[in-house]
Amino acid sequence: MAHLDHLAWLGVDAIWLSPIMRSPMRDYGYDVADYRDVDPLFGSLADADRLIEEAHARGMRVLLDFVPNHTSSDHQWFIDARSSGQSAHRDWYVWRDPAPGGGPPNAMQSQFRGPAWTLDERTGQYWYHSFLPDQPDLDWRNPAVRDAMFDVMRFWFARGIDGFRVDVLWMIAKDDWPWRDDPIGHGPGSLGGDPTGALQHGDGPEMEHRLRELRDVADEFPERVLVGEVYMEPRRLVRYYGTDGRGAHLPFNFALVTEPWNSRAIGAAIAAYEAALPANSWPNWVLGNHDQPRVATRLGAGQARVAAMLLLTLRGTPTLYYGDELGLPDAVVPATRVVDVAGRDPERTPMPWSVDRPNAGFSTVDPWLPLVDDAEDRSVEAQRDDPGSMLSLHRRLLALRRSSPALHAGTWTPLAPGAGQPDGLVAFERSHGTERVRVLLNLTHDALDVALPGSWTVAAGTEPARGGGTVTERVRLAGDEGLVLRPG
Ligand code: BGC
Repeated sequence: MAHLDHLAWLGVDAIWLSPIMRSPMRDYGYDVADYRDVDPLFGSLADADRLIEEAHARGMRVLLDFVPNHTSSDHQWFIDARSSGQSAHRDWYVWRDPAPGGGPPNAMQSQFRGPAWTLDERTGQYWYHSFLPDQPDLDWRNPAVRDAMFDVMRFWFARGIDGFRVDVLWMIAKDDWPWRDDPIGHGPGSLGGDPTGALQHGDGPEMEHRLRELRDVADEFPERVLVGEVYMEPRRLVRYYGTDGRGAHLPFNFALVTEPWNSRAIGAAIAAYEAALPANSWPNWVLGNHDQPRVATRLGAGQARVAAMLLLTLRGTPTLYYGDELGLPDAVVPATRVVDVAGRDPERTPMPWSVDRPNAGFSTVDPWLPLVDDAEDRSVEAQRDDPGSMLSLHRRLLALRRSSPALHAGTWTPLAPGAGQPDGLVAFERSHGTERVRVLLNLTHDALDVALPGSWTVAAGTEPARGGGTVTERVRLAGDEGLVLRPG
């Protein structure tokens, strides 16, 4: 709450919070023990209500992370399910007898490590878990499970939240029951997995139905949004908008995270996504999240600026991961401080706010994870008044985007490479009514000469000194440089 004014200053429209519901935190909140309470680590339900109110008062929306595929093993439903083979919640989860010779029912592997089955000694059956053993998968074929989860959504919608980011959305319709063997376990659709082949952990035939039901619940309330976590190639991904648009409003598009960072791959990925979008669906782009190495580490500081310009000038809703607007790199986390089983600590370190407070202003007590090196120098306070900073670049681009219908609502047209244009360039035009904006991005570290018929004014540059300058007929982009141009 103390930093909402900062977010408004930056130009943020909506905040997605990582899971805040009650949890033993074995997967940092992605293991929910009570969907109707806030974990005391973060505060109380009353605090959540106030946060929503304070965000709304500043014109910002609040989205919560909703984890429907699995609960924590500490959830009362699972405690009851384990208590006996006949318990009321037994069939809310997925149980199988051991294989004929003993051992797990099949070779399915969890997305984290080890088998996806764990033996419950008391009842002699195995439970299924896509992630940790402490995260048993719910059986979404069971109507009681669906009703309970839809009521969870209503509980939060009624408190005023504006939407959900739905965790591993594709997994709530398993493809095959009981599943065939999956000795590798990291099929497409797994976090960061190869998005092209057959899915083994979900995306089953019931998906269309699930999407419609989730959407129906969201539509019981005015202006609510469903964002879906779905790692898939464009043609499969866009099915998550649902038949006739009765699905997620924004199935996350991770192309900028998963594609190699060069002009051909990125240009092709943008075109493929735009081409795959169904009529009336609204695009979206993601540059980073809590499961992936940070953009500044993936691409380096120079290209991270180009990537920010790309994210904020493409057609569709951009999602920015906290700290990427400061250019934070992955932290070096010493072995003694590792907390995450899946190696994601380096991109999850505390947000540095200030130059002279303990823990760079993140907290007055020791945080779970160390701060990045030089956290104070990278902090909001250090960057805020520096026009050349990464933070100022984001603020400039967000303000431009907001003021420009071409950028926030216009069409997207790729500017053909070839025709004398250099490799390494991503270029496109956005237009709306009579407004036209051109975006030229150099995805290399070397200068590029770009032909540009006519006269243009720089509306924004990755380097602020370029702003307001004019270019005619051609322009030289420095290495790691991007420009947003207006005719005239
Ligand atoms: C979340 C991860 C989490 C996993 C299991 C993911 O897709 O983003 O952080 O570990 O789901 O809930």
